Amino acid sequence: ATYDEQWRPQVHFTPQRNWMNDPNGLVYLDGEYHLFYQHNPFGNTWGHMSWGHAVSKDLVHWEELPVAIPEAEDIAIFSGAAVYDKNNTSGLGTAANPPLVAIFTGWNKSTNNQSQYIASSTDKGRTWTRYGTAPVLDIGSTESRDPKVFWHEPGKQWIMVFAKAKEHKVAIYGSKDLKNWNHLSDFGPYGSEGDVWEVPDLIQLPVDGDPTKKKWVMIVSVNGGSLYGGSGIQYFPGEFNGTTFTPDPLPVVSEPTGVVFADFEGPTYGDWVATGDAFGTGPAQGALPGQSPVTGFKGKGLVNTFLNFDQGTGTLTSPEFLINKPFITFLMGGGNHPGETAMNLLVDGKVVRSATGQDSEALRAKFFDVADLKGKKAKLQILDTHTGGWGHINVDHIMFTDAVVNEMEFKTLWADFGKDFYAGVTYDNLPTDEKIWIGWMSNWQYAGALPTYPWRNAQSIPRKLSLKTTPEGLRLAQEPIQALKTQRGVNFSAGNLPVSQVNERLKAAGVRGKTLEVLLEIDAKDAEALGLKLHKSSAEQTVITYNRAAERISVDRTQAGEGSFSNGFPEVHAAPLKNVGDTLTLHVILDTSSIEVFAEDGRVVFSDLTLSSPSSDGIELFSTGGDPVVRKLEVFELKSIWK
Ligand code: FRU
Repeated sequence: ATYDEQWRPQVHFTPQRNWMNDPNGLVYLDGEYHLFYQHNPFGNTWGHMSWGHAVSKDLVHWEELPVAIPEAEDIAIFSGAAVYDKNNTSGLGTAANPPLVAIFTGWNKSTNNQSQYIASSTDKGRTWTRYGTAPVLDIGSTESRDPKVFWHEPGKQWIMVFAKAKEHKVAIYGSKDLKNWNHLSDFGPYGSEGDVWEVPDLIQLPVDGDPTKKKWVMIVSVNGGSLYGGSGIQYFPGEFNGTTFTPDPLPVVSEPTGVVFADFEGPTYGDWVATGDAFGTGPAQGALPGQSPVTGFKGKGLVNTFLNFDQGTGTLTSPEFLINKPFITFLMGGGNHPGETAMNLLVDGKVVRSATGQDSEALRAKFFDVADLKGKKAKLQILDTHTGGWGHINVDHIMFTDAVVNEMEFKTLWADFGKDFYAGVTYDNLPTDEKIWIGWMSNWQYAGALPTYPWRNAQSIPRKLSLKTTPEGLRLAQEPIQALKTQRGVNFSAGNLPVSQVNERLKAAGVRGKTLEVLLEIDAKDAEALGLKLHKSSAEQTVITYNRAAERISVDRTQAGEGSFSNGFPEVHAAPLKNVGDTLTLHVILDTSSIEVFAEDGRVVFSDLTLSSPSSDGIELFSTGGDPVVRKLEVFELKSIWK
């Protein structure tokens, strides 16, 4: 492979050909980092799930090896872990040559059963032997998957966590030999439930860099109804005593600055009016049979209006209100029924804004920019067309805000505020104390529709994890691994100049590129909003914006380029970014088809795919309401890891 197709990542791992999803079996041994991954060896769509394999000496350059564990005898090989069994507790190697042991879910395609299996390798992961044909752990479930295993020294045993996906639980098991497993406890439901919980990990991290002060963190991937819809990762700091994981209380996050919750609440749901085939609106009923409950923040601004359908077309129209803020944000939930859903904004009975999706889940966390409609009277209207099957849609919240806000932020700790970081898991057996993880850089909402060929989907840059004390509480922080610096090429730097002059220099120096690393330190207090435009041309741009008054940061890919394959793609993703101080720091890794933003030493992170045209390669700073001083800007060309 030449790795030079349009949108082929140059500093991220992708298989030469065909489909990839979750990273699996991340383990280090004898100078090699292994990356196994969910892979279809036969095509560019999900199927024939097998463990693909790549190795690296530095976590930067990868060599793709033959498929490690193929689908066999009707058992698909789903996600899982690999450990170095250095004391040969499993007996699957020898004392002199201890084995690597892979622990994975086998999905039985004829019975749908999902159980945990193991396989071993005594030749550095090159060939694998399945341990018999039976699972080592079968709880008789069709929704139990994604084991992650680590050695727990105080308890002198292996600990396995895996997801009871539909129950929104993480099961915790213990074993002395990786073959016989005892149930210790279950964790959950807690935090965001979404449709399913998948790919958990349980790790210990130093707090504020102090190795004597360690804290456990449970990591849980959530699919269907995460922060911006589809897939995302939440985490829970807490305590693990060898048997049970006890999370710290969920954060009480203050409402974002400048938010006014719509006052549509009331005994009759304000006066929302239903028309058409809808057979009624109703009170918050919690989870209805076959439906996922909307588990978002409850409280002010809650509308929780249900529109129930068998099939047909109906509308639900709000009372009239005055537009007095620049944004209207709303959160919708409901069943995954077949049909079309729209949220419309009406002024004088005419649709002036509209967001559409194939169901209300696809309309989760959308917003209207209504700055130009200030002072007008408006109504919101939900429109639903249902081609069959019972279902309902509901609106959880409506807020009038100064900046784009997503209510899902309030009660969940999200590892990443972009839309493309899922199934993140950490390395086993690293030579240092560091915790490094990799996530799948995609989202189940559109992973199969991405217009890339002959591969689909990438893995994230490996990132170092830590915990930081902030005024809001403990937060997970991430930074790109140091080794990535080897890819730095031509460099542009400027400092102690206002944005306007730095832009002139960037222009004069002809700085541009599809693959860049950007380090920015800027006087954040001297502008209303400021940020960076990347992959820029006259027609396209990807925009990072920090808004001082709203204390928020966002990545806007609505004009990034190709996005027509899913209405869940052209979006703005935003996050609260508080306590920034005088200087804002941003670290950006830009690849041909993605952006990873690490703000304020990685305490807020975005991973977003962006599919721009080859000629969109400009870079520019911007600011509004001031011309703040750039303390330091460094822009490095990132050299391809494949050349
Ligand atoms: C997560 C996931 C896992 C499963 C795998 C199947 O993305 O759905 O739960 O093991 O992908 O490919």
